Amino acid sequence: MPSAYEAYCRSYQSIMRLAVQFLDWTEPTVLNGKGAIADLADLIQKKGYKKILFVTDEGLQKLHLPDTLLELLKERNIEVFVYDKVKPNPSIASIEEARTMYADNGCEAIIAMGGGSVMDCAKAAGARIACPNKSVAQMRGELKVGRKIPMLFAIPTTAGTGSETTIAAVVSNPETHEKFSINDPHLRPKYAVLDPELTVGLPGKITSTTGMDALTHAVEAYIGQSNTKDTERAAKDAVRLIFSNLETAYNEPQNLQARSNMLLASYYAGLAFTRAYVGYCHAIAHALGGMYGVPHGLANAVILPVMLDWFKESAWHRLAELADAAGMRDCGISDEEKARAFIEEIRRMNRNMQIPSTIKEIQDEDMDLIAERAMHEGNPLYPVPKIMNKEECKDVLKILKG
Ligand SMILES: NC(=O)c1ccc[n+]([C@@H]2O[C@H](COP(=O)([O-])OP(=O)(O)OC[C@H]3O[C@@H](n4cnc5c(N)ncnc54)[C@H](O)[C@@H]3O)[C@@H](O)[C@H]2O)c1
Ligand SMILES: [Fe+2]
Repeated sequence: MPSAYEAYCRSYQSIMRLAVQFLDWTEPTVLNGKGAIADLADLIQKKGYKKILFVTDEGLQKLHLPDTLLELLKERNIEVFVYDKVKPNPSIASIEEARTMYADNGCEAIIAMGGGSVMDCAKAAGARIACPNKSVAQMRGELKVGRKIPMLFAIPTTAGTGSETTIAAVVSNPETHEKFSINDPHLRPKYAVLDPELTVGLPGKITSTTGMDALTHAVEAYIGQSNTKDTERAAKDAVRLIFSNLETAYNEPQNLQARSNMLLASYYAGLAFTRAYVGYCHAIAHALGGMYGVPHGLANAVILPVMLDWFKESAWHRLAELADAAGMRDCGISDEEKARAFIEEIRRMNRNMQIPSTIKEIQDEDMDLIAERAMHEGNPLYPVPKIMNKEECKDVLKILKG
C-alpha cells in the first residue's frame, strides 16, 4: 500500500503528465557539425538582425572561443554587445546585468555561447526582458514566464547540460545559497548550434563531469514514469553515445568524432529530460551546488550510482533496458544482474576519469537543510521510480559524504 504522501506525489505527477501534453514542444532547429557557427552567422544575417546581445564568460573569452563568430558577425555589419561576466551557477545579478545591456542597446536577439551557466543566464535574461514586471525569483517553478522571449541562439561549449534544447534555466541566489529552476517552454532556444570544434579545448575534468551530467539526465529521465516514445528513444541514444564516446573524449581531447558524438548525446539527453523530468540526483546536486558551490556535473556523477543503488528493484527493469541499449555484453540475464552491471559500469567510468566517489563538502550540521531543499525540489514533481522522504534522503547524504 502506498503511503498517503506517495499517493499525493503520484497524483500530482499524473496531472502534470496530462497538462504538459498541451504545451508547445517544438524542438530547436539544430545546426550540427564542424564549422556550424559559420552557418549561424549566415542565418542571423538572413534574418536581418542588426544588434545582438552576446552572452559568454571570461574563461571562454580568454580562450578566444567567441572570436571567430564575433568576427563573422562583424563582417556582416551586425553590431554585437558582449556580456561576459557569467560565473558558474549563474546569479540573479548577472541575469539583471545581461538584461540591462540588452535593453540599453536596443538589441533584437540573443546569442549564448558557453556552458549551461551561460545559456541559463541568457534564457533568464530573456525571460526578464519578456516580463519586466516579474523578478527572477517570481519566475521560479513551472510555467511562470508565459510570454515569448527574444530570439535565442544557443551554442553549447560543454557537452553536458543540454540547456540548448531544454525549457529550463537554473539560477542561483548567492544570498540564500539556493539554486532553483525556471521551467517554461518559452525559454527553449529556437536554434541550437552543435559545433565540436568549440569543445576540443575542454579540460579533462570538465569533459568528464559535464558528460556524466548528460548521462544523469538520460538515466533519470528513462527510469522515471513520465516518458513518451520520443523521450525513451532520445534517452537510449544518449546513453549509448555516452558509453561509447565519453572516455574517448576524455583521453583524446582532440578527437572530433568523440566530441561531436558527446554534443549529440548531451542534446538527446536534454530532449529526454526536459519532457520526462530528472530525479533526486538533480534535486540533491542543486542543493549541494547552492550550499557549497559543488560543480553540477561532478555532484551528479557521484550521486548517480548511489541513487540507482537506493532505488533497488524499482529501477532494475529500466536499467536493464539501458544496459541493453548501451550494448553491454555478458552482464547477466536477469534484470537485477544487468542493472547492477550498469551501475558498476558508471562507477568504473567515474574511477577511470578520476571522479571521486564521495562529496567531502557535505557537513553533518547541514544535512537536514540539504535534505529539506532536495525533497522540496524533488517531491511531488519528479516522477521517480520510488518516492523518497527526508530521512531517507539524509541516509543517502551520509553515504555521499563517505
Ligand atoms: N538549463 C538546463 O536544462 C540545465 C541542465 C543541467 C544543468 N544546468 C545548469 O548548468 C550549469 C552547469 O553548466 P556546465 O556544466 O556546462 O558548466 P559551466 O557553464 O558552469 O562552465 C564551467 C566552466 O567550464 C568552462 N568552459 C565551458 N566551456 C569550455 C570550453 N569549451 N573550453 C574550456 N572551458 C570551458 C567555463 O568557462 C566555466 O569556467 C549549472 O548551473 C547547472 O545547474 C542547466
Ligand atoms: Fe544536469
